[in-house]
Amino acid sequence: MKKTEKTVFVCQACGHQVLKWMGRCPECGRWDALVEETRRPRPVSRGALSPFQAEPVAVDSVCAEEGVRFSTHMAEFDRVLGGGLVPGSLVLIGGDPGIGKSTLMLQVLFGVAGKGRRVLYVSGEESVNQISMRSRRLQTVSPEILVVSEIDMNAVLSMAESIRPRVMVVDSVQTMFNPEISSAPGSVSQVRETAVRLMLMAKRTAIPVFLVGHVTKEGAIAGPRLLEHMVDTVLYFEGDRNHVYRILRAVKNRFGSTNEIGVFEMKEQGLAEVANPSAAFLSERPSGSPGSVVTASLEGTRPILVELQSLVSPSYLANPRRTVLGLDANRVALLVAVMEKKMGMALMGLDIFMNVAGGVRVDEPAVDLGIVTAVASAFLDVPISAETVVLGEVGLTGEVRAVGHAQTRVAEVRKMGFSRCLLPKTTLKRMPKPDGIHLIGVQNVSEAAGVLFPR
Ligand SMILES: Nc1ncnc2c1ncn2[C@@H]1O[C@H](COP(=O)(O)OP(=O)(O)O)[C@@H](O)[C@H]1O
Ligand SMILES: [Mg+2]
Repeated sequence: MKKTEKTVFVCQACGHQVLKWMGRCPECGRWDALVEETRRPRPVSRGALSPFQAEPVAVDSVCAEEGVRFSTHMAEFDRVLGGGLVPGSLVLIGGDPGIGKSTLMLQVLFGVAGKGRRVLYVSGEESVNQISMRSRRLQTVSPEILVVSEIDMNAVLSMAESIRPRVMVVDSVQTMFNPEISSAPGSVSQVRETAVRLMLMAKRTAIPVFLVGHVTKEGAIAGPRLLEHMVDTVLYFEGDRNHVYRILRAVKNRFGSTNEIGVFEMKEQGLAEVANPSAAFLSERPSGSPGSVVTASLEGTRPILVELQSLVSPSYLANPRRTVLGLDANRVALLVAVMEKKMGMALMGLDIFMNVAGGVRVDEPAVDLGIVTAVASAFLDVPISAETVVLGEVGLTGEVRAVGHAQTRVAEVRKMGFSRCLLPKTTLKRMPKPDGIHLIGVQNVSEAAGVLFPR
């Protein structure tokens, strides 16, 4: 080994580095996760490539360009980015394999590309042939979209330098290879190095870069989680592969609000924007079926009505099932316990299944009352009126607690044509009364049940 080479052992689970091999990572405790890596010194020093100023300057002497964001011509996508793409930003797009990340990226590039605006798509997963076949299917064919199949990061970076695309996509981070590092593509060091080099390139050239990363269910070995703090923006593309709806969620954004979401529908010709998600999620709602209720969830600044469904049936198991899709399972378990205790419903020996229709995920406490009333409706076998929406957080004593942005939610409820809305009494007191909708304030879960299931 040459003297300049350095050997380290890198944990593939957490990225921790040690100088000696060990059977178990001292940082995260994972067994057999340390992999030997040799680093060759880089031919060009990183200092020369750094986009950052060596000398501090007065902040007011820097002329910051206002309004330089540019549109991708996909309204949903722009909104998630915080109003368009910021030059020089590095955006990570994470998601399960097959969810539609490559599809989305091709469509975004097509939106940006135009006369004199060339864009570059680097794929380490597909051949140029495959990309072009996909482009035809998606009808995203343009002479301004350049595609290349490449995994060598040195080549990728020099391509970006010479082509100077308006936007660049690297699909995916797990396939890129930096020759200075001996480990295989997808290892912690390779993934990290790829992100750092793209970040430096993006900042220096002002080319926005999208970096695609696969996330696996088991918490992602060398996955995007590792990169979250290194990039400017992290978007997760989620949804159930068997459903048509896909949600793009910003979980970190240096240039805009987080928790903003965009809703798409996967079609044969690619992803179509869903401008009115509430209508889409409610389109197949059964009427007069016990266990179904509509609630108003707030995703970022956007209210979305979703249908919660519950099924309750006698269990033949010692530990009855609690199967939950699209909601926090612990939250459901907690609310079921509250129902047992405060509403006197004997749910203990019953299997409980919960689902959010349309394959979406809602994770805020304001849907608690929706969960409680859906389960209660299924348990009592009494349907909830199709004209009613419920919202409210539920506490451990069964009290219905205030929710934020109630006015925005109620406005959406009205817009979607519902005539009645159950909400926390405290919230109701604080908000103006809109016309055309009957608002009912409730203080606790029993009161809510009294309104929804009159004897
Ligand atoms: N020929 C096709 N017709 C319709 N849909 C397709 C076709 N090929 C792929 N898809 C859809 O595209 C999805 C794959 O999207 P892709 O962008 O490759 O995902 P990712 O890059 O996240 O792995 C598939 O799950 C499928 O829904
Ligand atoms: Mg892909």
